[in-house]
Amino acid sequence: MWTPAMRENAEHGLPPSEVLAALVEVCVRMGSERDLSALLDLIATEAARLVGAERASLFLLEEDSGDLVGHVAMGSRDPIRVPAGRGIAGSVFASGETLVLDDAYQDHRFFAAVDRKTGFKTRNLLAAPLEGRAGARIGVFEVLNKKHGSFTSADARLLRSLAANAALAIENARLIAELEKRGRVLESENRQLRRELGDPWRGPSIMGATPQIVQLRRMIERVAAANITVLVTGESGTGKDLVARSLHALSPRTDGPYVALNCAALPETLVETELFGVERGVATGVERRMGKFEAANGGTLFLDEIGDLSLTAQAKILRALQEGEVERIGSHKPVKVDVRVVAATNRDLEGAIRNGDFREDLYYRLNVVRLKTPSLREIKPDIPVLARHFLTLAAREMGLPEPALSLPVLEKIITYDWPGNVRQLENEMKRLVVVALLGQAEVDDLSPEVLRGHSPSQPAPPSPADPPKTPLPKPSGGSLPEEIESLERRRIAEMLAACGYNQQKTARQLGLSRQGLINKIKRYGLTANLADEEN
Ligand SMILES: Nc1ncnc2c1ncn2[C@@H]1O[C@H](COP(=O)(O)OP(=O)(O)O)[C@@H](O)[C@H]1O
Ligand SMILES: [Mg+2]
Repeated sequence: MWTPAMRENAEHGLPPSEVLAALVEVCVRMGSERDLSALLDLIATEAARLVGAERASLFLLEEDSGDLVGHVAMGSRDPIRVPAGRGIAGSVFASGETLVLDDAYQDHRFFAAVDRKTGFKTRNLLAAPLEGRAGARIGVFEVLNKKHGSFTSADARLLRSLAANAALAIENARLIAELEKRGRVLESENRQLRRELGDPWRGPSIMGATPQIVQLRRMIERVAAANITVLVTGESGTGKDLVARSLHALSPRTDGPYVALNCAALPETLVETELFGVERGVATGVERRMGKFEAANGGTLFLDEIGDLSLTAQAKILRALQEGEVERIGSHKPVKVDVRVVAATNRDLEGAIRNGDFREDLYYRLNVVRLKTPSLREIKPDIPVLARHFLTLAAREMGLPEPALSLPVLEKIITYDWPGNVRQLENEMKRLVVVALLGQAEVDDLSPEVLRGHSPSQPAPPSPADPPKTPLPKPSGGSLPEEIESLERRRIAEMLAACGYNQQKTARQLGLSRQGLINKIKRYGLTANLADEEN
């Protein structure tokens, strides 16, 4: 609705080109604001500024009551409620027309109660409907008291443009809030259901169903929540790392840092700077550096191979654990740290204590709870499950299809006298993914050690049923060209793996040109893992 008082383009603050630029900028900012109340604030502030008004209000329809609720009225934080059909807002909402009033108090539709409530004196006013997608009316947009003169038709056009964009931004923000709410509800339902199903395991996959593994998972769950030090023992490659990660993942510290330090991998002097950090200027050119203890603040510190620490480092760790604070090398100012320590070793710490290599007091401090990872020898029935798990992981990692394990292969894997190391089984499965043909791994795809049935360090088991040392390839039943191809593919795949996927080296070893090798790799679909072309 247009009143005769509207004057074309009169007394607008900004020149038209600048208004347009400002309008575009405001719309972009509106589109990226996801929080509804911040968005309403932004819209009102910018509208008042662009139109040169003292104040702006946004009234949004409240579906349940049918009232229009004034969410933002600059200068007033209290929401204003206008019953349906009342006041200027109600009238514009009902008609869908833009309205300009030069003297608000002269208009019978003006709802003076709002002014009384806010203490603001409305002189003149411009109002436009807020229309969202599909033209649905969601509210009314008002600017009050033009600073110089009265509202013009140019102001009305500007307000309508702003209103159109504001309505979309409001709808988006509401949609996002709704989705986030639903996501939270689903998440909590999901947690509840998992609890009811008795399947609360959220840690990294520790596979296996033997009593040893089931018990290990159960203990991790129980111990994870408590803020106590845990000592993980077990042979190398039996999952001590995995246990430490699980303890962190299932603990209340899960959102904090997980920091690991392998104490055996560093010389004694470096272990200390790694653990405790160093103050600037300890030696020339030394920069100030934070230690792992500080880095793990609020989280978990995994000290791997703790049995390899020097006695000095042991004393310092003991102090850090007892006092809950650390000192950087070269500093005498202790820093408070809140760290949960998980330590691991494959050494016999009790023996080390007897020999004077490990501090007994530190041992008792660490050994509050001890978790032991079983060796493969102790969990033989889990071998097929673990093998398939590693096969799946390896295939995914290399982007190759996952081969099936034939029964004879499974038999070999189960009967092989694994020296206890799960990592060796993992590597064997990686090998099968690369070497296996036609989606199925066969016995002669296995590594020589597993084929022989014992590791190089072990004596051969005295078994008369041993296969001949160099078994003849079994007749495959395929045509000769097929057999040659399959042999070629296997040789290339093996050599690629052996040469760390370096093409140059692989080609040299096989007596092929680099291009010839590349052609064959393409033909046999062996393209994964060839990123490091140049080395
Ligand atoms: N029970 C298990 N389930 C799944 N993966 C396992 C299991 N035990 C060990 N692994 C895997 O075997 C490898 C060696 O384990 P790791 O934790 O590094 O051993 P450690 O720290 O004792 O030397 C890792 O890749 C680990 O994920
Ligand atoms: Mg380890």
